[in-house]
Amino acid sequence: METARITVIGAGYVGLVTGVCLANSGHDVTCVDVDAAKIEMLSSGSSPIYEPGIVELLAKTSASGRLRFATPQDGWAPLLGDIVFVAVGTPMAESGAADLTAVREVVQTVAATTDHPFTLVMKSTVPPGTGRDLVSRFLDDSPHPIGYVSNPEFLREGRALEDWYHTDRVVLGSDDPSALDAVEALYEEVDATVLRTDIASAETIKYASNAFLATKISFINEIANVCDAAGARIDDVSVGVGLDSRIGPQFLNAGIGYGGSCFPKDVRALDFISSESGYSFELVKAVIEVNARQRTLPVDALRRTLGDLSGARIAVLGLTFKPDTDDVRESPAIDIIASLVAEGASVLAYDPLASHVILPEGASRVDDAWTALTGANAVVLVTEWSEFVGLDWTRAAAAMAAPKIVFDGRNALDANALEAAGVRYMAVGRDGCHRRHDH
Ligand SMILES: NC(=O)c1ccc[n+]([C@@H]2O[C@H](COP(=O)([O-])OP(=O)(O)OC[C@H]3O[C@@H](n4cnc5c(N)ncnc54)[C@H](O)[C@@H]3O)[C@@H](O)[C@H]2O)c1
Repeated sequence: METARITVIGAGYVGLVTGVCLANSGHDVTCVDVDAAKIEMLSSGSSPIYEPGIVELLAKTSASGRLRFATPQDGWAPLLGDIVFVAVGTPMAESGAADLTAVREVVQTVAATTDHPFTLVMKSTVPPGTGRDLVSRFLDDSPHPIGYVSNPEFLREGRALEDWYHTDRVVLGSDDPSALDAVEALYEEVDATVLRTDIASAETIKYASNAFLATKISFINEIANVCDAAGARIDDVSVGVGLDSRIGPQFLNAGIGYGGSCFPKDVRALDFISSESGYSFELVKAVIEVNARQRTLPVDALRRTLGDLSGARIAVLGLTFKPDTDDVRESPAIDIIASLVAEGASVLAYDPLASHVILPEGASRVDDAWTALTGANAVVLVTEWSEFVGLDWTRAAAAMAAPKIVFDGRNALDANALEAAGVRYMAVGRDGCHRRHDH
């Protein structure tokens, strides 16, 4: 393998994983970020994000001298290698569009300041058409030739390192064959199908993939609501549907909907792009609407059961959008807590990792599940951390106050065991489920 000089711009979830894994493959990598505190942490061996295995790999690659961290304060030119990955954020703007401010700023700056030719690899998720626009606006004017490759990222937080080495596919979009060759060579050690295409198709693959997965989630959530109405068991329905190899078992877990830094913003952006181009993407609109509605289920159920929520003590278990990450971006927990507080409930929330999140005013974060649920009239399980699934629910039921409701927002708990423990168990589409367990 030929060693490449690589720069990764943006040392967040995607950039850091990219940098660490490429350095681990033997390349010479510099990760650059405008956040000086983040760079300082990384330089001293700590990770600003939680990702299983990242601290160990960070230590190994930093010690080997193949991984360095820098801010661009002393100028970009010396930081730029032969291949430059862009992995800065593309958050959701108020309109629903992807906010490309950071991407444009970075591409414009590196194109204008480089003192040598390089290949620019776009890992940030950007709408179809963006690459072509960046090339004509910034790269074509650069004093040195810059090849452009769209290389969307598909990693899952919590399994990001595993996904780097064993991803389903590596998508590379470019009209520059030598740039494609250079980037494909970086994935030599990765066990994946490589798909080469044009820039706009690569960009579209990313949005289509996330929108499809989000659709699967909203679809099974709609089916769960039908199960509640029909007295069917969503668990069995999901298994039965997922056994069809054309459908597959993944993303068929009913619950309070998707969150995170990708699905909500990417699905909204796809809706926005479609509308802007005069096309109304009805399916995507419905996916967004269903997902928003799912978040209201726990509060609706508690209101129906408890009546007035003012004065009720509610424990919220889990703040991250899924287990094994510290990411709380677009987590349903925040909306649910805000609604509970708005209705006068007193909320104590606990999460094993998300200690940095700012909760809606009126809610408090506590240091363990037992403090949250002792004396609580109801518990809302938002994130299926194994710590919550494996909780001693008999002891929990004894510690709770009447009417001891547990709303399982992820259908992750054992309904029968909880009811046997004296809890009133509620979930999503499992209404007929536990009562008819032995039939
Ligand atoms: N997180 C995921 O699971 C995931 C998965 C696939 C794709 N993506 C996409 O990858 C991109 C990055 O996502 P993320 O989750 O890593 O974001 P992040 O917010 O964790 O990291 C982005 C980093 O970019 C830095 N940054 C911003 N402007 C900069 C600039 N001008 N120069 C240098 N650094 C700058 C920020 O300080 C931050 O550290 C997004 O487009 C996202 O949609 C994310």
